[in-house]
Amino acid sequence: MNVIVFASRKGGSGKSTLAAHLAAQVHKPTKPCLLVDADPQGSLTLWHKLRGTNEPALKVANRSVSEIIATAKRDGVEWVFIDTPPNTSAVVEDAIKNATMVIIPARPGVFDVDAVQATIQSCRAARKPYAVVINGAPARRDENESRIVALAREALAKFKAPVWSGQITNRADLLLALGEGEGAREFSASGRAAGEIGKLWAAIERSIKAIRGQTSANGAMHKQAA
Ligand SMILES: Nc1ncnc2c1ncn2[C@@H]1O[C@H](COP(=O)(O)OP(=O)(O)OP(=O)(O)O)[C@@H](O)[C@H]1O
Ligand SMILES: [Mg+2]
Repeated sequence: MNVIVFASRKGGSGKSTLAAHLAAQVHKPTKPCLLVDADPQGSLTLWHKLRGTNEPALKVANRSVSEIIATAKRDGVEWVFIDTPPNTSAVVEDAIKNATMVIIPARPGVFDVDAVQATIQSCRAARKPYAVVINGAPARRDENESRIVALAREALAKFKAPVWSGQITNRADLLLALGEGEGAREFSASGRAAGEIGKLWAAIERSIKAIRGQTSANGAMHKQAA
């Protein structure tokens, strides 16, 4: 079982959005995914209600996630995705302690990039692999990334933070899908949003395989300094 934790002290960076889209994409009855909403704001819970299928399953965590994780392991869950609140409270620390890998979404602004440091510190203190994912970025033009994304990468490189080489672009489809209780692929399988979520998932899977010692860590995003 692998536990992916979405964490960032910064509100609105995309934790709940990425958790929902990735879970919708990854869940299979044969390899079930469990969503854990550890944020009292309840964004993931709202999406799950809109979805109305109970697939993937969702559990709400208040103070600790450990018990939920132990039960999930017994139940044969393959992936656990934990959405956390925008702070460094005890439940966030507990989720990070239980993580196989931590995903830190960050919008490419100066305040946003600066704010990832607190979460990076928590990951380093817990000795957990992590990667920053640039989210809500302006679209690429002719395959060139926007100046603000390039600047964000430069700033993140100063913290020696591993950063995914791709980006999740600011796209209405991602929002529209959430409003329908869907993931990007369910909403529009051939859309660009689904393409980016698919690439992010491939990068996460590569990292997990490397963390588990099944492949070499060369090029894995949790090792890739910006
Ligand atoms: N790539 C994107 N394109 C378009 N909208 C986005 C994108 N990422 C996030 N959003 C929207 O921005 C808002 C904030 O995102 P989200 O709620 O996922 O952030 P969060 O980190 O979970 O916030 P919080 O810390 O408050 O829980 C939401 O309305 C979300 O749907
Ligand atoms: Mg959220």
